[in-house]
Parts: sequence; C-alpha cells; structure tokens
Amino acid sequence: MLSHLLHLEGVESVVVEHRSREYVTHRVRAGVLEQGTVELLHASGLGGRLQREGLVHEGIELRFGRRRHRIAFRDLAGGRTITIYGQQKVVEDLIAARVESGGALYFAASEVRVSGVDTSPRIRFAHAGKEVEVACDFVAGCDGTHGICRTLLPKDTTYVYVHEYPFAWTGVLAAVAPSTDELIYASHDTGFALHSMRSPEVSRLYLQCSPADRLEDWSDDRIWDELHRRLETSDGWTLKEGPIIEKSVTTIRSVVVEPMQHGRLFLAGDAAHVVPPTGAKGLNLALADVRELARALIGWYRTRDSRQLDRYTHDRLERVWQVQHFSSWMTAMLHPVPNDPSGIHRRLQKGELTYLASSRAAQASLAERYVGLASAT
Ligand code: DHB
Repeated sequence: MLSHLLHLEGVESVVVEHRSREYVTHRVRAGVLEQGTVELLHASGLGGRLQREGLVHEGIELRFGRRRHRIAFRDLAGGRTITIYGQQKVVEDLIAARVESGGALYFAASEVRVSGVDTSPRIRFAHAGKEVEVACDFVAGCDGTHGICRTLLPKDTTYVYVHEYPFAWTGVLAAVAPSTDELIYASHDTGFALHSMRSPEVSRLYLQCSPADRLEDWSDDRIWDELHRRLETSDGWTLKEGPIIEKSVTTIRSVVVEPMQHGRLFLAGDAAHVVPPTGAKGLNLALADVRELARALIGWYRTRDSRQLDRYTHDRLERVWQVQHFSSWMTAMLHPVPNDPSGIHRRLQKGELTYLASSRAAQASLAERYVGLASAT
C-alpha cells in the first residue's frame, strides 16, 4: 500500500518480500475493513473489486446467556459501516496494481540485510539466484512482528511493550454459507466464539482455546461441537456445518515498539505493533500507518521539510494505543480467563456485557471504535 501511494505521487520504491507471491495471497487473516480503510482503497483507485465483492455490514451481534444483542453501527456511529473483504483480496488487489504500473516487486527474497539506516540506507538480498543491492533514501520496515527491521532500532533507546494473553484462537474456514448476516461475538462460560464470513459461500469461525493447544487437539468434530455449544441461543437459531477447508491456531499478543523510527528507518504495521485479534484492527491500523508515512515522505520529496517525518512516531502512537486499548478491552470482555477459581472474573464480565446490552452510550462507544475513529490527521 505504501509503495502504491508513493507511486501515485511519483515517488519510486522497491518492495522486498521474503515470502512468495503465492504465500502472501493465501495466508488467511481477518477480513473486516473500517470505513476509513474502504475510503482509502477507493481514493487510491483500488475500489473496483472491493465494490463488487465487499459485503457492507451495518452492525454486529453480541451473544451471551443464550441471548442476542445487536450493536447497530449505522445508527450509533453516525452512519458509518464496516465492509467484509478478505485481507488476501486486499493484498491481491495491491499486488495487481503495483505490477500493472510497472512497480519493482521482489518476492521470495532471501538473506535480506539492511544497513546504513542512520544516513544512507542500503538493502541487499538474494533473488532468483542473484545478489541485488538497493541504495535508497528511506527504508519502510513493513516486515511484520518477526521481521528484521525492528531489530535495527538501537537497543538502548527502544522499548518493546509485550503482553501475552492466557488464551489463543483456533480458526477455521468452512465451505458453507454463513449462518448469520452479521458477525457474531459470543461469550460463553466455556469460552469465546466468533462467527465471521468471507463470502456468501464461505464461513470463517473462531474458538477460544489454550495457547498450549496444537492443531491435532482440534478435530473437525470437536470444533463443530464447541461452536454449537458456544453459539447456541434460546430462540432456535442454528449453525450450519460444512467441510472445513483451512484450520490454524493463533496465539494472542499485544506488542508496541517505541519509537517507531530511527534515522531513515520507519516501522509500520505489525513490525511496530501487534493487537489482539478481537475487533479485527490489525490490517486497518497498518494501512493507517502507511497512509501517514506516505504523506510524510511525499512532503519530504516536495520540500525537503522533515517535520512530518520527525513527528511520525508521536502521531502514530496516539492512534496505536487507542486501538491497542480497544482490542484488549474487547478481548478481556469476551474471553473467560482459564484461571478463575472463585468465578469473580466471569461474573464481572457478565456485569459488563449486561450493561453493554442495555446502554445506548456503551453501545455507541463500542460502535464508534469498531467502525474506526475518524483520522486525527
Ligand atoms: C474476523 C477476525 C476477527 O478477529 C474479528 O474480530 C472479526 C472477523 C475475520 O477473520 O473475519
């Protein structure tokens, strides 16, 4: 996205991707786009397939105590909505746009080394059996939480906040029409469950599990049993089953790196911060990072004024911590903790959920953050 936004303003860039094109377009990630993300994709000429295949949702459902409670976004969040559109589709659209406009993309690059980020950065890597070297003005570290760019920040002035949650998610894609028109976030005494979707033919479902669980612990039968139990309502709603076509277990963490820059290196997305998945903010936050980084870089190329670049960390962290808070709040409210011997933790959760189900103010607070706070810049 950064490369695309820079290209639209005539700034050249080179994308170095460690994984193959096949891998990045098949890796399953959340598919909920905030309104601001949809607007950014449209404004940058990427709205075609999104317009045709994106599913606009005007609310979500919270489920607990076998009852359903709708959070009506359009009504509570000033007409704003979300769009269900797979993260892989966003990646495919971006790659197609970059390839079409002749962008330099290197997939399956190995032995990637970055040097000189203080004054004159260089990236070296092996690609298709050849050594490639790129000299550049700036390096954008968009290489995720396990990437190399984060390690280039000086140890003595960098702080990495990390919180591990005491649960994980088992996620499945099932070849069956979604059993719901809107996403369902269910908090059951035995664990959290989420019913999402990818298309009118494919359902996406998640179950809270233990971080120690392995894929082998979750047979298809066990997954469907647990989903039925956690999603059950007293009004006869039924969950449709279908063949499971993909299955994975994901651990849940909050990570924030401060600062997000050093010299001519700027981190964006998961390289700088990881949010727990509840609320599907990761992609939205990453795109908001690069929108701002693109603006600052374009400004620098126009005027050589570095003030916006200098402010990058400060401006982004304001948003990052709000989103971090929202995602951990959603997570904490909906997931029973594994160790709650007196049951007080679960009772407090139910107190909060009951308040949310009955208070327009509480629902509006959830809604405005779920659809995405208006950009501060
Ligand atoms: C999805 C993932 C999420 O984490 C979420 O909160 C909602 C939807 C998804 O994969 O569709």
